Amino acid sequence: MTEEPVSLPAALASFTEQWSPRIVTTVNDYDVRVTHVEGEHVWHVHDHTDEFFLVLDGELRIFLREPEGERTVTLAKGAVFTVPRGVEHKPYAPVPTQILLLEPSGTSTVGDRHDEIPDHVDATTGHALR
Ligand code: NI
Repeated sequence: MTEEPVSLPAALASFTEQWSPRIVTTVNDYDVRVTHVEGEHVWHVHDHTDEFFLVLDGELRIFLREPEGERTVTLAKGAVFTVPRGVEHKPYAPVPTQILLLEPSGTSTVGDRHDEIPDHVDATTGHALR
């Protein structure tokens, strides 16, 4: 896909939309995506794929509905976490935050099933960098 290196800070500086991932490169059949996030996303589930999160800056909390019950994981800058396939989750950023996601190309940001999508959440399979 990309034939030149991509600067993540430059990629993030190229847009301001929240919860609206840009695809910075691909690895085999996976996208590497980055986005700004703040506030709540939406409860959703990916039935067929895990979802990898890396916090580039800020803080991300992920609410999880696991078989054992609900819990929240908190990811500081530099932390990684993988939501297993089939686990309902809702990301939340208490402060302006930037994250990197790794997931199969074509994966929707709102999963295969989701609650009503709020206006500030972009339901997308990722946008190309401009
Ligand atoms: Ni997800």
